Amino acid sequence: MDNIQFSRHRRLRTTESMRSLVRETHLQKTDLIYPIFVVEGDQIKKEVPSMPGVYHVSLDYLTEEMNELVTLGVRSVIVFGVPAHKDEKGTQAYCETGIVQKAIRQIKEDVPALTVIADTCLCQYTDHGHCGIVQDGEILNDESLELLTETAVSQAKAGADIIAPSNMMDGFVAAIRKGLDDAGFKNTPIMSYAVKYASSFYGPFRDAAHSSPQFGDRRAYQMDPANRLEAIREAQSDVEEGADFLIVKPGLSYLDIMREVKDRFNSPVVAYNVSGEYSMIKAAAQNGWVNEQEIVLEKLTSMKRAGADLIITYFAKDVAQWLSE
Ligand code: PBG
Ligand code: ZN
Repeated sequence: MDNIQFSRHRRLRTTESMRSLVRETHLQKTDLIYPIFVVEGDQIKKEVPSMPGVYHVSLDYLTEEMNELVTLGVRSVIVFGVPAHKDEKGTQAYCETGIVQKAIRQIKEDVPALTVIADTCLCQYTDHGHCGIVQDGEILNDESLELLTETAVSQAKAGADIIAPSNMMDGFVAAIRKGLDDAGFKNTPIMSYAVKYASSFYGPFRDAAHSSPQFGDRRAYQMDPANRLEAIREAQSDVEEGADFLIVKPGLSYLDIMREVKDRFNSPVVAYNVSGEYSMIKAAAQNGWVNEQEIVLEKLTSMKRAGADLIITYFAKDVAQWLSE
């Protein structure tokens, strides 16, 4: 072995303190955004069957839940409303006394330390379960923009710190930006679901949000998982229309897209570690087939390594706990 030349990579891996000196990626509590599902009614804290550890919570339990987050060191939530009443036009999405508006108002009043992000879409609120207005089986684009804008403005009025439109209509960032500006919310940022694929990883979420489409699917507005360049076009137009943050969704199967969006645009990138990614790990962990803590930390670290600045994850509370230990 005398004369051969090779590199000794293992020198930097000898001990945990050595490894921590050369670690390139760090997952922090401040990277985490926790999704919450708020429902009408009283004394409800009901587990979503396909998402163990995720709950429907009524307003009377909400403040307690939010205080728990702050104690754990999680500073941001994204709020999804599950309304009691649905109709063709998703009226409850933009109603001043809608469940989401009430929840946002309450959190901002009781737990001002939290940054409240409002998910802006219609699918939980429409009886057909699509993210826009439907006519003759078609999801109309421009007609939907008006209602989405109204939804965003009502959320900002309720006190939302950030508006996060997830509907995938064309021009939604431009329309919502103008609506917010005209209503006096020039300083309210838009966290756009810029790159959102039509994904089977959303299955458990649709149980949680009661938002499954009642006919067809979302492939006429969400993206084809086979496409990469289309993601660049989507992100590009959102940046031009005024998006402040770019979400890539789902996370795990789209790390290549995350990296590309991060490299091409100078905007904060957000990974959405979606429901299916959560439930798969939960199920495997419950069977004792994987180590939940290790696999979750590895997975979220890989999203940061791929370029994500922030991560929306149902694991936020657990991760905050683990990072404190
Ligand atoms: C719909 C919406 C979806 C998610 C959040 N908002 C997906 C969909 O039903 O198309 C998915 C979140 C998740 O799976 O965790 N506007
Ligand atoms: Zn939707």
